[in-house]
Amino acid sequence: MKLALLARKDIPRCVEIEKQLFAADDPWSAYAFRSELDAGGYYLGAYTDGDELVGYAGLATVGRPGDFESSVHTIGVDEAYQGQGIGTALLRALLAHADELRAPVFLEVRTDNDRALELYARHGFTRIGLRKRYYQPSGADAYTMKRPSRSEQEAG
Ligand SMILES: CC(C)(COP(=O)(O)OP(=O)(O)OC[C@H]1O[C@@H](n2cnc3c(N)ncnc32)[C@H](O)[C@@H]1OP(=O)(O)O)[C@@H](O)C(=O)NCCC(=O)NCCS
Repeated sequence: MKLALLARKDIPRCVEIEKQLFAADDPWSAYAFRSELDAGGYYLGAYTDGDELVGYAGLATVGRPGDFESSVHTIGVDEAYQGQGIGTALLRALLAHADELRAPVFLEVRTDNDRALELYARHGFTRIGLRKRYYQPSGADAYTMKRPSRSEQEAG
């Protein structure tokens, strides 16, 4: 398994995995992935030794040096490959990138997504808010979570 920058040719496979994982919550289209890449998002793919894409994750960053702010926009692993550490590896790679930028990281996660909530909690995220009916069309609620920037972590 290896991680690499997501390529545009991977988008159809991402869309396929999105449909599998987020059927109830408006899975991202190819257009959405293209827009994220065009906007300069830091997107990684997880590839098998046979170069099949089995997971992806993306971080968007706004601001300027000294005052960056990042958000995890998506993270997903093909169900057949979950539980093997791929999601953890993807998240850690995004967080390493955010740490280089000294950016705090924000994300939204369904309040009933226990697996993701645990994963984020283990990586320094805490809940900072609740967004009612954030996901559509399911109407599911989301927690907003934040992981402090490297500078905030160092300041203790
Ligand atoms: C969340 C997600 C990305 C994690 O990916 P993953 O490759 O399965 O993650 P990992 O194998 O690194 O495991 C992360 C943790 O999830 C839990 N987990 C993983 N597979 C599990 C399984 N089959 N059953 C129960 N818990 C499991 C474990 O707590 C694991 O931590 P561990 O290190 O203690 O074993 C993946 O489950 C996924 O794509 N879910 C659907 C999409 C989603 O919810 N994305 C997040 C939206 S905010």
